[in-house]
Amino acid sequence: MKYPSILLILFSFFVVFTRESNSSETFTQCITSNSDPKHPISPAVFFVGKPSYSSVLEANIRNLRFNTSDTPKPFLIIAATHESHVQAAVTCGQRHNLQMKIRSGGHDYDGLSYVTYSGEPFFVLDMFNLRSVEVDVASKTAWVQTGAVLGEVYYHIWEKSSTLAYPAGICPTVGVGGHVSGGGYSNMMRKHGLTVDNTIDARMVDVNGKKLNRKLMGEDHFWAINGGGGSYGVVLAYKISLVEVPENVTVFSISRTLEQNATEIVHRWQHVAPELPDELFLRTIIEVVFVNGTVSTQKTVRATFKAMFLGDTTTLLSILNRRFPELGLIRSDCTETSWIQSVLFWADIQVGSSEKLLLQRNQTVTYLKRKSDYVREPISRTGLESIWKKMMELEIPTMTFTPYGGVMEKIPSTATPFPHRAGNLWKIQYGSDWSEGTLTTRYMDLTRELYQFMTPFVSKNPRQTFPNYRDLDLGINSHYEKISSYFEGKRYGESYFGGNFERLVKIKTRVDSGNFFRNEQSIPVLPYFI
Ligand SMILES: Cc1cc2nc3c(=O)[nH]c(=O)nc-3n(C[C@H](O)[C@H](O)[C@H](O)COP(=O)(O)OP(=O)(O)OC[C@H]3O[C@@H](n4cnc5c(N)ncnc54)[C@H](O)[C@@H]3O)c2cc1C
Ligand SMILES: *[C@@H]1O[C@H](CO)[C@@H](O)[C@H](O)[C@H]1NC(C)=O
Ligand SMILES: *[C@@H]1O[C@H](CO)[C@@H](O)[C@H](O)[C@H]1NC(C)=O
Ligand SMILES: *[C@@H]1O[C@H](CO)[C@@H](O)[C@H](O)[C@H]1NC(C)=O
Ligand SMILES: *[C@@H]1O[C@H](CO)[C@@H](O)[C@H](O)[C@H]1NC(C)=O
Ligand SMILES: *[C@@H]1O[C@H](CO)[C@@H](O)[C@H](O)[C@H]1NC(C)=O
Repeated sequence: MKYPSILLILFSFFVVFTRESNSSETFTQCITSNSDPKHPISPAVFFVGKPSYSSVLEANIRNLRFNTSDTPKPFLIIAATHESHVQAAVTCGQRHNLQMKIRSGGHDYDGLSYVTYSGEPFFVLDMFNLRSVEVDVASKTAWVQTGAVLGEVYYHIWEKSSTLAYPAGICPTVGVGGHVSGGGYSNMMRKHGLTVDNTIDARMVDVNGKKLNRKLMGEDHFWAINGGGGSYGVVLAYKISLVEVPENVTVFSISRTLEQNATEIVHRWQHVAPELPDELFLRTIIEVVFVNGTVSTQKTVRATFKAMFLGDTTTLLSILNRRFPELGLIRSDCTETSWIQSVLFWADIQVGSSEKLLLQRNQTVTYLKRKSDYVREPISRTGLESIWKKMMELEIPTMTFTPYGGVMEKIPSTATPFPHRAGNLWKIQYGSDWSEGTLTTRYMDLTRELYQFMTPFVSKNPRQTFPNYRDLDLGINSHYEKISSYFEGKRYGESYFGGNFERLVKIKTRVDSGNFFRNEQSIPVLPYFI
């Protein structure tokens, strides 16, 4: 896709300054007069073309596909340093009829928090300065502002207690705002459920610029913001309940190639992993690798089994050697360490490194594409063999199999907007990463080809998708008019939210009938005739 960026920027200015002719104030005047005078907004505003605009914009771009000169850019970024700045952004964005994108950690896989596909002028409300984490050990709760990243949350919990934790994502630079809004999961999900199963209150700014907590917004609105995406307001902070973890946990990562019986082991894994004790999370990452033999280099498929066990090594060995002897786990494969150190392990940082590394928000960025699926029936050996053959042909895309089961089976699919509970054995994440812009078309196509190939093995009607793995291939909403917007929204909405989609639409219609909080895959409002 090509974007006429210079024209777009000029157009943005034109629109911003002309649309305002019917009101006496400019957008800038509006945000100034609508924020708390004790906390001036001007230092938080970055106009396109101003010196620090690019560094603020680029600091939270987590996919190089959206760091090109063709990428549509916001005409302005408000990097709120006070909650009143958020209120001002909403009030004035509405009043001046401008599209607002909300960004917390910037990890949206298709860049929706800082890119638009519509050609409309837009600004970014950036939350990264609002990142306090207040932990209360006595009540085992914390108030977490949405601009905090998960590593910061884990670090601040650990500062107060080494046996309390938050069951959220594996990558420490993911933002709380997007993560909770899409149902974030962790390697403790089989024991403690998702982030959304551990939210007890929230503070947000609604479409009228008003600050609301759970009580003031009401149970429907609270239900919607806790996993239903960014269509319902700007969430300022979540109150989360913390979970207890043992003093030490056990982790391991071991690999098996096809020559080491990977087919047999993965086949068995499908039956074992969703049925293991809730304390044990055992995922497998499937990729094509080249192994050097004595004569030549050989292409093969490798399955890497990565585990998190809320217990000690001896217990883990006894469980796995009884229930999954094919894996051949031995004591020296296992590392017993504190929960906070296990976070480093999962982030591919050497166990024993400083916990302070979790406070770093920067990370290496690549070009990437992700897609996802759910598997409800085990795949046969022949099926697996055909998949390996396809993967070896494509070489690039990897698949990560994440087991469900445990408490995920027990939480009703209507408890939160996140619908993928009982009946799902495991989730697939398809992933491709690359380092040159010239490879983009090819690598995107390879990823889609593997997804296409997997059709017979995964959920159907509709094919289910994990809400936090944004995938614009499922459709883009033009928001052109209510009827088409509803039907466009239903396509991706039912993939992400299943039977919860209609309830999300009803709530959306009630709390934001003008569709101010929108993006390419937001929840649409109800067309009048339904
Ligand atoms: C390297 C990597 C690892 C990941 N690992 C995991 C994992 O282990 N588990 C998991 O569940 N997911 C994982 N994800 C997916 C991740 O949870 C989602 O991409 C998540 O939405 C990112 O949140 P963010 O705040 O960083 O993103 P952003 O891009 O800032 O936001 C994502 C979406 O949420 C909206 N939003 C953000 N903040 C707010 C707010 N305050 N109020 C309202 N709407 C808001 C945005 O507008 C956007 O639509 C991973 C992603 C990456 C890139
Ligand atoms: C993003 O693009 C800018 C401008 O071309 C460049 O300076 C910057 O290094 C890029 N970021 C990354 C992480 O490559
Ligand atoms: C946890 O591990 C540490 C060091 O690895 C050890 O000193 C400590 O005794 C362990 N605690 C328990 C309860 O096993
Ligand atoms: C593969 O499985 C066979 C039969 O189950 C077994 O004999 C063999 O030792 C295994 N190979 C490896 C490398 O584990
Ligand atoms: C295999 O050999 C190539 C060079 O022939 C080398 O670049 C590569 O790192 C080797 N791979 C492994 C897994 O040892
Ligand atoms: C992130 O920042 C730290 C400190 O400024 C630096 O040491 C580290 O190398 C950076 N990491 C990346 C991936 O850029």
